[in-house]
Amino acid sequence: MAAQPPQIAILGAGIFVRNTYIPRLAEISNLLVLRAIWSRTEESARGVVEIAKRFFPDVECKWGETGLNEIIQDAAIIGVAVVLAGQTQVDMSLRLLKCGKHVLQEKPAAASIAELETAVSCYSSFNPAPIWAVAENYRFEPAFVEGKKLMAEIGDIINIHVIIEGSMNSSNPYYSTSWRHNLGGGFILDMGVHFISGLRMLVGCEITSVTAITSHVDSTLPPPDHISSTIKLENGSSGVFVMVVSSRSPKVLWRIVGLKGTLQVERGNKDGKHGYTVVLFMADGQNKSWFYPFSGVTEELKTFLSDISLAAQKKDSSYQVEPRLSFLEGARDVAILEAMLESGNKQGAPVQVKRF
Ligand SMILES: *[C@@H]1O[C@H](CO)[C@@H](O)[C@H](O)[C@H]1NC(C)=O
Ligand SMILES: *[C@@H]1O[C@H](CO)[C@@H](O)[C@H](O)[C@H]1NC(C)=O
Ligand SMILES: *[C@@H]1O[C@H](CO)[C@@H](O)[C@H](O)[C@H]1NC(C)=O
Repeated sequence: MAAQPPQIAILGAGIFVRNTYIPRLAEISNLLVLRAIWSRTEESARGVVEIAKRFFPDVECKWGETGLNEIIQDAAIIGVAVVLAGQTQVDMSLRLLKCGKHVLQEKPAAASIAELETAVSCYSSFNPAPIWAVAENYRFEPAFVEGKKLMAEIGDIINIHVIIEGSMNSSNPYYSTSWRHNLGGGFILDMGVHFISGLRMLVGCEITSVTAITSHVDSTLPPPDHISSTIKLENGSSGVFVMVVSSRSPKVLWRIVGLKGTLQVERGNKDGKHGYTVVLFMADGQNKSWFYPFSGVTEELKTFLSDISLAAQKKDSSYQVEPRLSFLEGARDVAILEAMLESGNKQGAPVQVKRF
């Protein structure tokens, strides 16, 4: 007999829940039962439940401490998506994990190095430990999955070059979320984890130390709004990571120059779809290119649902999280940005990346 789809709850009622979680889960509604949506206030919980009811007619509305306890005590709910302000997510995730829930927490994995350390040591004390996944989605984008395979074609790395010119301005719905303005590192940390995860996925080798200059030019954005960093990899390869939070002409590009060729991944559009173009430039001057529309969020949600279903079928704690989803991967992305921000605060002094 086929196992029943897992029952899950969502904590949070912000833009990303409304615009992304609900529509993406609706597309795969055969793979889950959305039991409840929770928010701190009744009003915001009701707002989002109204949208979700179109796809999940039985979803329940929960709010406040009472509603949260009802979710925690409901043994039928085995997984919870934590989609809250960046500063409160780790505390909430740990509380749920302690009560035996599997957690899919939105990025960033934590808001600081200190919080990462507490999170990792606390989580390692749970036995059995439920699954703790961090949703960053780039490790599930087909462009990065395929790009990683093509790395074998370019030979030894000479240089890595990541240029991110973002489009975060007052027209962007996420601009007005106050927690992002109050987060140490601002949008560099909040958005930067995506770009670092893409970079780490492609090169497949850890970044050990960085130097960086940071600046704050656009006063409508939280500081810093620009970072220019040099990165050094564990095996001696090196490169640059440049990120501008808001540009009039956005560009999002990873480029890796090797002895035998160059690999490039760039955000773009094709046939009305947003996604990434992967180009392989070869030694003979020819190139090959592929376009992959975005599908990382859906792939990531499917993986989490499948992981928790398998975990629920096992009587012991021998289940595992797909490594690309693990809290540690998310922690490593934050640790690199925190090292860059620290170097920026120290006028570009070299900083070792904290290992997780
Ligand atoms: C470092 O590792 C990458 C990825 O495995 C490899 O392509 C590159 O050639 C290595 N660089 C050195 C200097 O060994
Ligand atoms: C924000 O950026 C987008 C994309 O570059 C642009 O179309 C829009 O006009 C900008 N809005 C403001 C208020 O600058
Ligand atoms: C790939 O090669 C073709 C044919 O030589 C050329 O027209 C095209 O501009 C190249 N693509 C890129 C991304 O450089």
